[in-house]
Amino acid sequence: MKNIVCLISGRGSNLESLLATQAREDWVRDPGARVAAVVSNRPGVRGLEIARAAGLPAVLVDHAGFASREDFEAALARAIEPHAPDFLVLAGFLRVLTPAFVRRFEGRILNIHPSLLPSFPGLATHRRALEAGVRVHGTTVHFVGAELDAGPIIAQSALRVAPGEDEEALAARVLALEHELLPRCVRWVAGGLVRLEGGRVALSPRIDPRDLLRLDP
Ligand code: GRF
Repeated sequence: MKNIVCLISGRGSNLESLLATQAREDWVRDPGARVAAVVSNRPGVRGLEIARAAGLPAVLVDHAGFASREDFEAALARAIEPHAPDFLVLAGFLRVLTPAFVRRFEGRILNIHPSLLPSFPGLATHRRALEAGVRVHGTTVHFVGAELDAGPIIAQSALRVAPGEDEEALAARVLALEHELLPRCVRWVAGGLVRLEGGRVALSPRIDPRDLLRLDP
């Protein structure tokens, strides 16, 4: 059984959709994986409630309580290790991880980002996409590399930006894509269909190339 530990910082809607997909598709049977624990770096967030409601260990490692990033990450590692993680899924985790932490879990950390990387890393992606006037926008799941919101891309889901669309509407449409994309990619990785090899994404021939980029009408 592969253990997945999810790191979150807030609302937890991607966590919720991951848990719902795992239950619906019976991941314990196939591919033999389960979310084993959830860790948040912020107290009192909805994502922790979602974890508890699902009967999962819901651990708080409040970054505000640590003097340095290294101290925070040491505590984060201590919170994660007892759950023997095979993979870490950053499901709306809004802290930058140091290269040392990333190296420790090399090739085993997935992140979901609300833009078509490498465009618009960082925050406020939907506003910046609208300001730039892009006609296509979306979401990316990638292996975490040493830089923020960078690393080998696993798959993307895209949509056409509607003329006059506002930030709220665009954010809601991208979030719906995220809720489908993240569980699909986690399932691939947990099932060994997608791996990081020599810094590149290696894909099983069982993956339909059309699933690597889905474009909503
Ligand atoms: C998502 O848009 C995710 O892509 C980004 O942070 C947001 C988290 O939302 N990294 P939620 O906590 O999963 O609802």
